[in-house]
Amino acid sequence: MKISRWQGVINHYAEYLPVTDKTPVISLCEGNTPLIRVKNFVDAIGGDFELYLKYEGLNPTCSFKDRGMTMAVSKAKERGAEVVICASTGNTSASAAAYAARAKMKCVVLLPNGKIALGKMAQSLMYGATTIAIEGNFDEALRIVRELGETGKVEVVNSINPVRIEGQKTASFEICDQLDRAPDFHFLPVGNAGNITAYWRGYQEYFKSKKIDRLPRMFGFQAAGAAPIVDGAPVANPNTVATAIRIGNPASWTGATNALKESNGHIGKVTDDEILAAYTLIARTEGIFVEPASAAPLAGLIRAVKQGWIPRGSVVTAIMTGHGLKDPDCAIQTSGFAPVVVPAEKAAVMKVIGI
Ligand code: F0G
Repeated sequence: MKISRWQGVINHYAEYLPVTDKTPVISLCEGNTPLIRVKNFVDAIGGDFELYLKYEGLNPTCSFKDRGMTMAVSKAKERGAEVVICASTGNTSASAAAYAARAKMKCVVLLPNGKIALGKMAQSLMYGATTIAIEGNFDEALRIVRELGETGKVEVVNSINPVRIEGQKTASFEICDQLDRAPDFHFLPVGNAGNITAYWRGYQEYFKSKKIDRLPRMFGFQAAGAAPIVDGAPVANPNTVATAIRIGNPASWTGATNALKESNGHIGKVTDDEILAAYTLIARTEGIFVEPASAAPLAGLIRAVKQGWIPRGSVVTAIMTGHGLKDPDCAIQTSGFAPVVVPAEKAAVMKVIGI
């Protein structure tokens, strides 16, 4: 029987990935996410170009991490590992916990205490991961995870594990397949910098395979309170409302700087106010709800438009890395609204509507 249903990124892009027939594929049918054209948003920010959002929040655990995690957990299973471990600002941990459950493996996650969005915490607890909140930030959690990895007793599934990057590059393939070309500009948030490294690799590989005839310029954005690459030095105490990218010393720093240099790209920083303004605007103009970190590239795009950096008619993609429901606290606070409570009577409801 011919199977035509989508079966995940390893199955679809196997020829570009370090897998063999012997690799047990642990998949939740991740990938194949929509690429949505957002004209209302472009009009609202005064642009004159085509903007497409890759809505990675529609992956199985609601972030782009699932693309790398299907690879990391499949390869860990292939090697016979029993325990996977990661440090996380919340999305990697949610993804690791889900894929480990499916692989019948144990999962341990180290999170910065008190700095994890509610939905992400719910995910790792529900998928049954041993969830450890350290009294420190992500960078400190990753240091401990690296040390534990050296004992050989656990398999590290952070993006310092090279197969994570391999899986994540499939999003570039999908963008090119969906657009039938490469974009002119690729905007994305930068935290630990695995993703910018991965996307650039994906574009380069598709270029080498002659699937595309041009390469995009990579435009990355960090939060102003956590902008080590922009500032050129690690940040000891990173801080931002976009907790997913609250990282002071990115593991893939070199990958990011290479992508920026080779693509004639740009890395900038945006303030929390700019992030929250873009976060609200994309929800209100397009009905697309993303988590705050995913709004960083949109805030960056608003700046780029003001600077006149995006030529008329350009094709621009931006990665909406995580779903808005991951961080309901931030959404409720930022919305500026609260439900209007009225008696259960038609007249009272009409009064609120103004009819
Ligand atoms: N957007 C979201 C929603 C993220 O969760 C992350 C990273 C990024 C952007 C940045 O990607 O690290 O590859 O540069 N989250 C990691 C985590 C750190 O632990 O979930 P990056």
